[in-house]
Amino acid sequence: MSKKYDVVVIGAGPAGYVAAIRCAQLGLSVACVDEWHNHQGESSLGGTCLNVGCIPSKALLESSHLFAVSQNEFKEHGISIGKAKVDVSVMMARKDKVVNELTQGIKALFKANKVEFVHGHARLAQGKKVEVRERGKKKIVATLEAENIILAAGSSSVHLDQAPLDQKYIVDSTGALEFDSVPKRLGIIGAGAIGLELGSVWSRLGSEVVLIEAMDEFLSNVDQQISRAAFRSYKKQGLDIRINARLLSATVKNKEVQLTYEDTRGAQQVVFDKLIVAVGRKPNSDTMFGDEMELAIDERAFIHVNKHCETSVPGIYAIGDLVRGPMLAHKGSEEGVMVAERIAGQASSVNYDHIPSVIYTQPEIAWVGKTEQACEAEGTPVNVGVFPMTASGRARAMGSTEGMVKIIAHKETDRVLGVHIFSAQASELIAQAVTAMEMQASAEDIAMTVFAHPTLAESIHEAALAMDKRAIHIKN
Ligand code: FAD
Ligand code: NAI
Repeated sequence: MSKKYDVVVIGAGPAGYVAAIRCAQLGLSVACVDEWHNHQGESSLGGTCLNVGCIPSKALLESSHLFAVSQNEFKEHGISIGKAKVDVSVMMARKDKVVNELTQGIKALFKANKVEFVHGHARLAQGKKVEVRERGKKKIVATLEAENIILAAGSSSVHLDQAPLDQKYIVDSTGALEFDSVPKRLGIIGAGAIGLELGSVWSRLGSEVVLIEAMDEFLSNVDQQISRAAFRSYKKQGLDIRINARLLSATVKNKEVQLTYEDTRGAQQVVFDKLIVAVGRKPNSDTMFGDEMELAIDERAFIHVNKHCETSVPGIYAIGDLVRGPMLAHKGSEEGVMVAERIAGQASSVNYDHIPSVIYTQPEIAWVGKTEQACEAEGTPVNVGVFPMTASGRARAMGSTEGMVKIIAHKETDRVLGVHIFSAQASELIAQAVTAMEMQASAEDIAMTVFAHPTLAESIHEAALAMDKRAIHIKN
């Protein structure tokens, strides 16, 4: 098969599938090639995010949260149910059902928008051609030609030589979403987003969890006031986070993982039933094209692009985890929309300053914009307003009084530069901070806004008021 399109997209993750749909909405003929296949060997759209990332992890976070609430909080509400039991196979089946519904949903959206889906491994060839092969096979099954090609091949887990994966005892995040029972002793290398989220899942279900983190600062990209509060909270929940710990080796012996690491006290040994390696992800830029393509790639394997996601070759774009910026689904999707609209002649752009981040623990951490430390480092004078969740009526009614809202505004202009939240539902609350910042709000704009009572969102209002000692429900 050889066919010509206005646009060919490689990869149907949140960057690629959104780009393809937006291209189709704009009247462009578009094909999207993706090689993902599920356990049944069938294609499954949605990339890492839907298949083994955002969605399955949140399904398990929800199930494990309900279990933890039933065990730790029901009693206080006067509800007794005795000791709850976990059926991991049912929990996993529910997670798989959620994934399947959403991946099938993308297939339906492709059909509705007339995006042509091609299942297979795509390789970029000279002359704006994309060759498609069945996975692991040499024979080309289709050649697609297009004026514009969007690369959206995503990323894969980083592996460590000191802890080789066997996907049984030593696993990556994908393996950690598929355990068939609750490991008694669970080790995790890397206390980042994946380590904390999957560590929370298994800890709530009963695992003793130890996280081995190389950096001497916990969550170094998070505002330090928030990361300190989160560290204390996670510790209380039973996550044993060991920072400044350099992994030496992890080997499987007698169905156990024997791990050694070095910290300030010297070499330490720990034994686990399972070990998750969660030390970051790397872009999938290595198998999509050969040297003849002249696409500039940086030293960390990201495809080099400008702010409009144009690569060094005209008409070829790259988006999502393949390129610089945070490896987040919504960042990739917005880049997909921007590129589609630019191909269609519009002047779209992405505001990289206002991309929210969330870590879906309990409480959740969510932030947008600059941290107080970043402002300090660049010499920007700031005002800071903090409101503790313990003073929120709604948080008290919910029994979720841990955490705070922190707003950082420019000292002279009062423009909001960053909002940092550690609280229940922070992932939902941060959206209003993003909206405010996108509208170039000042802290005073937020202070003058009416918030419904009783809501967690009132804490954002109070944090803005706290900036000049006007918060009502705390002593300023
Ligand atoms: P991907 O989603 O990786 O999709 C790339 C697609 O391209 C894949 O389907 C792949 O099969 C296909 N592909 C690659 N090469 C080829 C080729 N040569 N030919 C054909 N097809 C190809 N982000 C969030 O924002 N929120 C979260 O809560 C969140 N949770 C996460 C939890 C986990 C456990 C993990 C691992 C990640 C999580 N992420 C989260 C990150 C998020 O999944 C990624 O940022 C996002 O999926 C990147 O989207 P993408 O479209 O760039 O790439
Ligand atoms: P990460 O970058 O968030 O965290 C990796 C951690 O591992 C870091 O703290 C790092 O210092 C540590 N580390 C690296 N090498 C190490 C070593 N040898 N020994 C010990 N520690 C080591 O990466 P993570 O958690 O793997 O997630 C990958 C990507 O997926 C992230 O970029 C993240 O944005 C995305 N993601 C997003 C989520 C969300 O938005 N809620 C959830 C999960 C993942």
